[in-house]
Amino acid sequence: MEIDAYLKIFKGKKVLITGHTGFKGSWLSIWLHHLGAQVVGISLDPKTNQDNFVLSKIGDQITDYRADIRNLDEIQPIVEKEQPEILFHLAAQPIVLDSYTDPVYTFKTNVMGTVNLLEAFRNSKSLKTGVFITTDKCYENVEKDYAYKETDSMGGYDPYSASKGAAELVISSYRRSFFQDTDKKIASVRAGNVIGGGDWAPFRIVVDIINAIQKNEIIEIRNPIATRPWQHVLEPLGGYLLLAAKMMKERKFDEAWNFGPEKENIVTVRELLDKTIAAYGQGEWKDVSEKEKLHEAKLLSLDITKAKTQLNWHPVLNLDETIEYTVDWYKRYKSEDVFDLCLEQITDYMTLWKNDSSLI
Ligand SMILES: NC(=O)c1ccc[n+]([C@@H]2O[C@H](COP(=O)([O-])OP(=O)(O)OC[C@H]3O[C@@H](n4cnc5c(N)ncnc54)[C@H](O)[C@@H]3O)[C@@H](O)[C@H]2O)c1
Repeated sequence: MEIDAYLKIFKGKKVLITGHTGFKGSWLSIWLHHLGAQVVGISLDPKTNQDNFVLSKIGDQITDYRADIRNLDEIQPIVEKEQPEILFHLAAQPIVLDSYTDPVYTFKTNVMGTVNLLEAFRNSKSLKTGVFITTDKCYENVEKDYAYKETDSMGGYDPYSASKGAAELVISSYRRSFFQDTDKKIASVRAGNVIGGGDWAPFRIVVDIINAIQKNEIIEIRNPIATRPWQHVLEPLGGYLLLAAKMMKERKFDEAWNFGPEKENIVTVRELLDKTIAAYGQGEWKDVSEKEKLHEAKLLSLDITKAKTQLNWHPVLNLDETIEYTVDWYKRYKSEDVFDLCLEQITDYMTLWKNDSSLI
């Protein structure tokens, strides 16, 4: 089947997205809306007036709920009322440095929030397919030049990573305890460092670069030698969509999946910085690593063989294209319609994806 045929599955389907006001969730909402899905979102308020969710006005085109995932009593009635068929759970406290400031909030949101969504999923008559978004940081980091496989141990040094490792264990427990031999299927998905337009979260490298450039300030860089698997936001989202579409057809995909970039996109912060400055056409930086005393993983990469061979998914954009898409958004968002800008990037991406893999 071709990609189009899989993506058509979402037409007319009711899809619940948690975290739809956030960076990845807003892009997923726009993409699913474009595919003809009836999108229902559950999240907290967007953080800034220039978030992609706000600027794209996608909230006007979907059913937009504000509720706290730490409280099952807030989530359950929405699921019962809306009767969605598919769930993408993205809502989380996703920032490593914030997890050091507020570990309790991080664990409550990322672990108990996931428990609550699993419980709402279990109790729902309508929900049949669930994709739970964790992170590449869920793996016990051995700080070696090693690409993590889905079967590697969960772990986590900082509270964010540990909360996502714990969420993975919870998802696996629910799958085995409650959903075997039922018509309900859940998968967990682990992506790397995602970049793209509309992200304004502090302590994220591209956001720091763009903010400094746009304010004519020096870019402050922590850990320039840290290696990360950089990917455009549309790459893992495409993986989540393909996975959900395949899960709707067959049982065998309800497992854990890595959706990272190709090896050539696994580069240092310094390399990403240089390329972003070149693509933007301006920017100066300084290393502020000395200021930061908190532990952050040095080496992190994902083995994506399973998604490539068993799902027939693969990354579409190389590193330069990943940066071009990202910088393009940040250069144009002030003067153009942001919904159209996102849709242009989504349709471009879908064309590249289709041309790249004639049969999947
Ligand atoms: N951005 C990345 O580089 C990256 C990489 C790997 C994994 N992830 C994961 O992807 C998901 C989305 O990340 P993002 O970058 O879009 O984050 P984001 O901060 O932009 O969005 C987070 C979303 O979660 C919602 N949320 C947070 N706490 C909530 C609560 N208590 N109740 C209800 N909603 C709540 C927010 O309102 C927002 O909609 C997260 O699970 C994150 O851990 C992100």
